Order: sequence, then structure tokens, then C-alpha cells
Amino acid sequence: MASARILAIETSCDETGVAIVEGGRRVLANQLATQIALHAATGGIVPEVAAREQLRWIVPGIQAAMGEAALGWDDLDAVAVTHGPGLVGSLLVGVSVAKALAATHDLPLIGVNHIEGHIYANWLTDLPADEPLPAEPSFPLLCLVVSGGHTQLVLMEDHGRYRLLGQTVDDAAGEAFDKVGRLLGLPYPGGPAIAAAAAGAHPATRFPRARLAGAYDFSFSGLKTAVLREVAGYRERGDPIPVDGLAAAFEEAVVDALATKTVAAAEAFDVAAVALGGGVAANDSLRAVLGNRLAALGHRLLVPPAAWCTDNGAMIGAAAGYRFRTGARADLGLEAIPNLALDWQVE
Ligand code: KG4
Ligand code: ZN
Repeated sequence: MASARILAIETSCDETGVAIVEGGRRVLANQLATQIALHAATGGIVPEVAAREQLRWIVPGIQAAMGEAALGWDDLDAVAVTHGPGLVGSLLVGVSVAKALAATHDLPLIGVNHIEGHIYANWLTDLPADEPLPAEPSFPLLCLVVSGGHTQLVLMEDHGRYRLLGQTVDDAAGEAFDKVGRLLGLPYPGGPAIAAAAAGAHPATRFPRARLAGAYDFSFSGLKTAVLREVAGYRERGDPIPVDGLAAAFEEAVVDALATKTVAAAEAFDVAAVALGGGVAANDSLRAVLGNRLAALGHRLLVPPAAWCTDNGAMIGAAAGYRFRTGARADLGLEAIPNLALDWQVE
């Protein structure tokens, strides 16, 4: 059943995503309720508030997705849900609702890892049903997953076969954007705010790049401290803080670190293509710098549209499409696992 229709639910953090995806590729519906405005008031996510909002939006989200695709329950082949990693309260809302839907509508249940979802966003298309599907990404596929919680370089050797090449040893890239955004006095979330401030600005300084033992590891906490010191220096001198210039210098340093390691891995592992995923993959500078450096060496960069980089239900439907084909099914004992790891196949 290559064209199985899957209702996919994503509630791992502060976005309520519900999508219907056909064959793991075609997005028939994609609904998102975002809590950004709410968390902007507190400058970050309060887990209990996030979970309560998930509870509030999940049922309207499902109804809206069914309406958008103009489908009934009989038209669906499975229900998929993110069961980790993420915030436990938020995850529990999606997992509980998905289990209830699977049981009451007699549909198979599929548990999806959130990181795998970010990777599978590269399989999605919103082409209309009468247009042929574009080619699938080929393997080995090097994936840079950069989000608020994760920064990982993953070599995907086939569907479901992952090798973790490296990851951050401290803060995730998105976390660094959010923390630096806050210390520059920019609104939450820091990622898009820093990108907007940096656009067109000349970097106010050159921040040092981290040196690490692991060839494909990352570190961003030193950079955050460097920005903090720089800001403190301006304050002590009573000088105005060049927010745009510091945002540009910070963004340049993060993008350079991510691009340098990703290009090195693409060369070392002779990959078929490189794919981006996760909220930070929405960053235009990262897309451009990494894309250009890879192109110069003859590598192709796949980048999902920005709306499929940040958390959403469609990416979960894409990952579930592959799992559905292999016959993977969860039972009603499926648990929310806050620190769920991908089933790494380390050689
Ligand atoms: O994948 P995601 O939506 O949620 C997690 O799984 O964490 O990623 C959210 C992160 C936040 O840290 C946010 O600041 C960052 O992605 N982000 C960006 C951009 N848009 C979102 N970072 C840099 N540039 C952007 N344009
Ligand atoms: Zn995410």
C-alpha cells in the first residue's frame, strides 16, 4: 500500500502539529497551532504551559486537518505520533490522543522519533495529486539536524539505518540562537529574530570558532559566553550595543561551524546528497553558505521549505510512511519517552 494515508500528530514541544500524508510524501493536510506568542511573554517555554496548550489545540487541530483533506476516518490507514524526544507533558498529549484514535477507529498505530521526522521532511512534497512525485533522496544521505534541542550529523545509509557521526557537546544550535537572542534583547524565539537583525548588517566582530576533539562534533556554549562578554564590554564603556552587528557576527560563527563540519563529512563519506532538517535549517544564511560550499565540491544540498523545518505534523507523517511500509506497528502500550534516541546503527 504505497499510498497509505496517515494521520500524523506532533506535540513534542510547543507546536501542535496535525497532518495527513499520503505514501510518506504527499501532504494532503498540514495544521499547526503555535504557542510562540505565549512563550514570548515569558522569554522561553514553560513546560506545563506548553502541555496545557497542547491539550487545548490537539482536537481542533485533528478536526481541521480532516476538514482540510476532506477525508473521513474510513479513508485513513494509520495514526502516527511523535513519542520522543521532547517534553514529557507535551508528548503525553499527542501519544494519548493518537492511541485513543487508533483504538476507537481500529487503525494501526505508529510511533515516530522526532529527529527522524526532521530528516524525513526531505521526502515531503505539496505537489497536487495529478503531478508525478519528484525523485526520493538517495543514500548514503548526510543529514544535519539542527533544532532547539539537537545538533547532530547523521549518516543515513538507508531507510531506518542511521550512524551518528557527531553532535553538540553542550548547547544545541537553536538553543544558542535563543539564548543569544535573549542576551541581545531580541524577542523569543531568538533564531528568526537574530536572522532578521543580522540580515544586511556587517559583523561587529569575529567570534572565535571552537576547537574540538571529535571531527564532527559541535560546541556553542563558548560562543554564547563570548557574545555575553562582548555585550558586557559595551555596557561597561557606556557605549550603545550594536545589536545587528553582534547578531551578524554570531550567526556567521554558527553557520561557519555547522557548514565546515558538514562539508568535511560529505567529503569523507562520499555521500549521494546532504539534507538539512530542524528549526535552524530555516535559517537563510545557513542554507546559502552550506549550499554554496557543497556545490563548489559537487555535492547537492536538499532543504525542505522553512515551514517543514520547524516542528510540524507532516514530517512525522513522512517518517511514518516508511515505517508503515515495513510493517512496523506500535501497540497501545506506546510510551512518551522524553530522551528517546534514534536506533543508531553504529558500525
Ligand atoms: O525544530 P524546532 O522547531 O523545535 C525543536 O525541535 O527544537 O526548532 C526550534 C529552533 C529554535 O531554537 C529557533 O530559534 C530555531 O529553531 N529557529 C531558527 C530559525 N527559525 C527557527 N534559528 C535560526 N534561524 C532561523 N530562521
Ligand atoms: Zn524539532
